[in-house]
Amino acid sequence: MSLPIGIHDLSFASTEFVLPHTALAAHNGTDVAKYHVGIGQQSMSVPAADEDIVTMGATAAAPLVDRCGKDRIRTVVFATESSIDQAKSAGVYVHSLIGLVPSCRVVEMKQACYAATAALQFAIGLIRRDPSQQVLVIASDVSTYEPDSPGEATQGAAAAAMLVGADPALVRIEEPSGLFTADVMDFWRPNYREAALVNGRESVGAYLRAVEGAWKDYTKQGGRSWEEFAAFVYHQPFTKMAYKAHRHLLSLCGRPADRDTLERDLGRTTAYNAVIGNSYTASMYLGLATLLDQADDLTDRPLAFLSYGSGSVAEFFAGTVAAGYRTHLRTGANHEVIARRRPLDHAGYRALHAWSLPADGGDHSTPAQTTGPYRLAGVSGHKRLYETR
Ligand code: CAA
Repeated sequence: MSLPIGIHDLSFASTEFVLPHTALAAHNGTDVAKYHVGIGQQSMSVPAADEDIVTMGATAAAPLVDRCGKDRIRTVVFATESSIDQAKSAGVYVHSLIGLVPSCRVVEMKQACYAATAALQFAIGLIRRDPSQQVLVIASDVSTYEPDSPGEATQGAAAAAMLVGADPALVRIEEPSGLFTADVMDFWRPNYREAALVNGRESVGAYLRAVEGAWKDYTKQGGRSWEEFAAFVYHQPFTKMAYKAHRHLLSLCGRPADRDTLERDLGRTTAYNAVIGNSYTASMYLGLATLLDQADDLTDRPLAFLSYGSGSVAEFFAGTVAAGYRTHLRTGANHEVIARRRPLDHAGYRALHAWSLPADGGDHSTPAQTTGPYRLAGVSGHKRLYETR
């Protein structure tokens, strides 16, 4: 049997602020049931002016280093589609903020919401080569659409940090993977834009085609049979999308898509995403955190993962939950990430949505709005300045 490699520790962070969908619905004149029931979202995390993918990524990663140490981390892979620099990896800032050793490689990966899964697979390959090493994978994103657009209600922000290593305490990632790529323009963000562009209907169809393609390839590669999976963890741009995808696969496999089946397979994977919103690369891994925190004992149970990134790439793979995993969960801290956010009214949210760092090359401080351990203090000569509290 090959050496078990996978997720040894998992932590996540989100933002200082939260906008309840009731406030968005009141502003838009939308029936709030469209948000609560139609897309399955309750609220969205909103970054403060002094927060970004680096501060969230460092906040998510620091507890892993506190618990497991830093000496074995020789690689950091930062997955994002909200990149802050075209050259320098956001991971280098995190490497510095959390005090990792210099003998380390750091790189940024991109393929929309899928990149964290590419990072995880890359990490597994490195650990297979040298099982004494660990890889820190950080998925951090801020989802931004135009105000008053259909995508607005699916915004969100979070970072998930995973320590990947041999003999993992949480989930052993398995082979094979089912893969799928198709060149589609369902969702994209040209370098000169802050907000993503999206063809909403096309994006839902592209997601479903990718799920189908990845599942078909997974079965062709000799993967596990459907009945073996205890739960299915999907990328969740909004939580109802996971239900659409699962119904699609159930129908493809000739299985009934009744309410009980859907709740059993997915019901325990959506709680965090429903209140955080779309965190792009982090979303599926927040789904895993929710599941592990909520489900009855999953020891030795296989889980199915479906990672999707617009554009589009998808991967279907399995992971088996490790014995003793419950002693490594961060359930209390995870609840606190959600509970500590301060509610915004609609005007406050719109002011933050319109905020951006000055791009004139001057010296600018950001308003001190955050209370977390790391903050973006300002910008000077086009350089971002971070602060540790
Ligand atoms: N009560 C209950 N349900 C209601 C309702 C009400 N009063 N009003 C509407 N609904 C339901 C609708 O019936 C619909 O349900 P179904 O999809 O099951 O038919 C649901 O609420 C949404 O309503 P609409 O389809 O009318 O919503 P919309 O067109 O305004 O927006 C969207 C939907 C296009 C997906 C939009 O949210 C969007 O553009 N989102 C961003 C793109 C996205 O998330 N795509 C997902 C796949 S791409 C991906 O996964 C990558 C990624 O992260 C971006």
